[in-house]
Amino acid sequence: MNTTAPAGVTSGAERSRPDLRVYTFADLVTFADLPSLSRAVHDCRRCPLGASRTHAVPGVGPADARILIVGEAPGQNEDLQGEPFVGAAGKLLDQLLRGIGLSRADVFITNILKCRPPGNRDPQPDEVEACSPFLEDQLRLIRPEVVLVLGRHALARLLPGQDSITRVHGRVISRDGVSYIPVYHPAAALYNSFLMKPLEQDFQAVRAHLDRMAARRAVEATAQPVAAARPEEQLTLFG
Ligand code: URA
Repeated sequence: MNTTAPAGVTSGAERSRPDLRVYTFADLVTFADLPSLSRAVHDCRRCPLGASRTHAVPGVGPADARILIVGEAPGQNEDLQGEPFVGAAGKLLDQLLRGIGLSRADVFITNILKCRPPGNRDPQPDEVEACSPFLEDQLRLIRPEVVLVLGRHALARLLPGQDSITRVHGRVISRDGVSYIPVYHPAAALYNSFLMKPLEQDFQAVRAHLDRMAARRAVEATAQPVAAARPEEQLTLFG
């Protein structure tokens, strides 16, 4: 009998010793760029979803996107097409982005799980853990200024220990120089129509934050030439 857990998947023994974490080869690998990360996602067998998926869904968008959007996991349409947010939730996401003057060309979109859980069930902790190195490396390679955290599963993965999504949605949470903004998941708003208005307001909060960041950048850009001129001024004073 094979008692070894697949790479990246917590075994029974590890679960009974939460203080222990076994590092696998994949934990130590960092990718040189997004295409090599994407190839590794397509080859991935770190958890059982690798066997049940039709296509892996690494994510799409410009490698230098200022905004990273992180959803939960591919659904049926995403699994068939290999792209994130191409179903009904994706259409709503496009509409929300348009509403704040953005399009897919401005954002990189991915999920905490890169493969579809059967029947769209919730991601399991072992699957989230196995998929984590990919998301961590996407954050490292893309270096977004803003991360839109879609829904409670992405919130638990990206901002562990935070209050529930109902409490923190629409707020800006700074971590390591990155602005994380949790918002309701578009699929949740399609399911519960009373969440639609708060979701639209969350996106307005995103717009307001982007505007504040742009204003700050403009101030910094005008301040820099003055600061750069100072050493020369000093030379003419004392030279
Ligand atoms: N829901 C998600 O969280 N991700 C997708 O890619 C599609 C639907």
